[in-house]
Amino acid sequence: MEQHVLIEMCLQQLTLSGVHEGEKVVVLSQGQARLDYADAFLAAGQRLGARMYHMRLPAPMPGNGAWAVGETGLAANPEAVEALKQADMVVDLIFLLFSDEQMAIQAAGARVLTAVEPAPLLAKLMPTQELRERVEVGAELLAKASTMRITSPHGTDVTYRLGVYPTMSEYGFTDEPGRWDHWPAAFVFTGGADDGVDGQIVLAPGDVLLPFNTYVREPVTYTIEKGFITDIRGGLDADLIKSYMGTFKDPRGLGMSHVGWGLDHRADWHGLTQFPGGMGMELRSFYGNVMFSTGPNNELGGSNDTACHLDIPMRNCSLFLDDEPIVLDGDIAVKEMQRRD
Ligand SMILES: [Fe+2]
Repeated sequence: MEQHVLIEMCLQQLTLSGVHEGEKVVVLSQGQARLDYADAFLAAGQRLGARMYHMRLPAPMPGNGAWAVGETGLAANPEAVEALKQADMVVDLIFLLFSDEQMAIQAAGARVLTAVEPAPLLAKLMPTQELRERVEVGAELLAKASTMRITSPHGTDVTYRLGVYPTMSEYGFTDEPGRWDHWPAAFVFTGGADDGVDGQIVLAPGDVLLPFNTYVREPVTYTIEKGFITDIRGGLDADLIKSYMGTFKDPRGLGMSHVGWGLDHRADWHGLTQFPGGMGMELRSFYGNVMFSTGPNNELGGSNDTACHLDIPMRNCSLFLDDEPIVLDGDIAVKEMQRRD
């Protein structure tokens, strides 16, 4: 992508995120990764009159192969974290999610925007105010619900007891102090009570395994009791999931993490075939997907901070909040949340 196009995109992004004259915005990168994004954000922020600078950490040492969430190069740099806490906004080009450092930066009042996906995907799923409104309608419904039930024609029937953890929304930009978001994104989620998830989830062919960035080929059946997975059964995909989870040597990886649904009608289920090399935000966002996750819940304030985390967007599910239909057979059932074109 040509740099001037990237600058225009970043200008749109920072405008949506409320960046204005005199604000202090820090762009955080690591090694050689996304230096073109860093330059584009710096140029865009300058045009909005913000005070900009670029904080660049060294590339991680080789050898850490697994996608371990919550570990960042900032941990060894308390002075750098202090500097980021002083910012109005941090543009995270590394992916700090779930780290103690990000939580400290947000707690100090800095808003954080993550941008790590391929530039053509950032362009395709440029956030909009309309999408934000739809996501916020969803967040409101989710926040007042006390149970969530998910069913599917393949045999999924699982119930989450809600009300313990907050509801989170992601719509791809952030203009409120201390709030984090991820460009691109359009979904809502919360977590079940630590011992409050029970039932069965059956993955169907075409459901998505992140971070494998692959599509399920044959059914996988999860049995869940009191918030923990007690059994994973199926063929090759089940074996891959169990083998991957086993490498973390952490039984807390069997905990149930966040759960919710996607709202972006521009995001394609087949997106992994178009934009390889990303981390799957298009799949988390596609309209009417129901996504459940396994592993940590510390992002929501829980005590499970395992590094073993899978996000699994599913097609053709139905999702009910206190028995009211929210998603029906993979389609959004609430008028105020539906696509308008
Ligand atoms: Fe996740």
